[in-house]
Amino acid sequence: MKKFAIALCALGVAVACGTVSAADYPSMKIRAATANIEASHHGICLNKVKEIVEKESGGKIKMEIFYGGSLGDEQANVKQLRNNEIQMSTLTGNNLVAFAPSAGVFTLPYIFPTAQDARKVFDSDVAKDINETIAKESGTRPLHWLIGGYRYLTNSKHPIEKMEDMKGLKIRVSPSEMQLATYRSFGIEPHPMAWSEVFNALQQGVIDGEENPYTVMRDMKFWEVQKYLTEVHCTLWIGPLLVSEKWYRKLNDDTKALLAKAAEEAVHGEWNWSEEQDGVAKQDCIDHGMQISTLQDEDKWQAAAKSIWPNFYDKVGGKDLVDKVVKVVEQ
Ligand code: MLT
Repeated sequence: MKKFAIALCALGVAVACGTVSAADYPSMKIRAATANIEASHHGICLNKVKEIVEKESGGKIKMEIFYGGSLGDEQANVKQLRNNEIQMSTLTGNNLVAFAPSAGVFTLPYIFPTAQDARKVFDSDVAKDINETIAKESGTRPLHWLIGGYRYLTNSKHPIEKMEDMKGLKIRVSPSEMQLATYRSFGIEPHPMAWSEVFNALQQGVIDGEENPYTVMRDMKFWEVQKYLTEVHCTLWIGPLLVSEKWYRKLNDDTKALLAKAAEEAVHGEWNWSEEQDGVAKQDCIDHGMQISTLQDEDKWQAAAKSIWPNFYDKVGGKDLVDKVVKVVEQ
């Protein structure tokens, strides 16, 4: 009896010191997938979530991460989440919009003048409300949002410094109506294509160019197939840390709280990593022979792209919602 009392007392001290969690976590395995490599910003975030949930659940929750599109492309991952075949994924926001129109509010062209503005929005209550709507629309719930650098434009043909330079180029965009409309406003007919097909399509000349942040250019070694890069600040790379809503709804409160904590910590770490790595990856691109250009007429690009906003107000949940996001950006 005395031994039991001592053990109980020791456990109490350990809990008070935070070395053992008093929370109730059922044993489970989380299957997570990304179409990107482990060294990518997706991998940085998912690995951190894994580290936190495994440690804090005392090993009761395990996480297995599938990289490089081994379970399919990003839209396939969304379908797997809906069916609870996998429980977690990260992907570009553009690939969620087909399933959750309200996610489109975060992909409006030129909505985020800086990455800091996106940080404010994704930590705000406005984003939390939008995440609830996305869960209802798509059966997948953003726990939080990753931020990469701006999606800069690359191509294999010639430098782009003015909008006229776009003429005749075959540019790939994510399969999203808003991305198509944005590039049409720049005067070209873009090519929608799943991410997993892009490298081969560039290599074979099916397309001339694409857009992604510097870190993704590095992950993909795009310098092997792309020579020219232009810094266009139209679309910041943003993407959800997404879970299966079917699965999430059955979790107990302790597990939901642990996931929320892990998501916030992992995403904030990813934000810092991306900010730091943007410059490092840019230098890698230059060292591998990519030629970087800046736009001489970005005001024109911005005006053209923003002119499509009214066509998307109803789809993303109304102008009032867009105004709410813009208000957080401007605070
Ligand atoms: C894309 O272009 O489809 C994405 O940016 C790839 C990614 O999710 O990193």
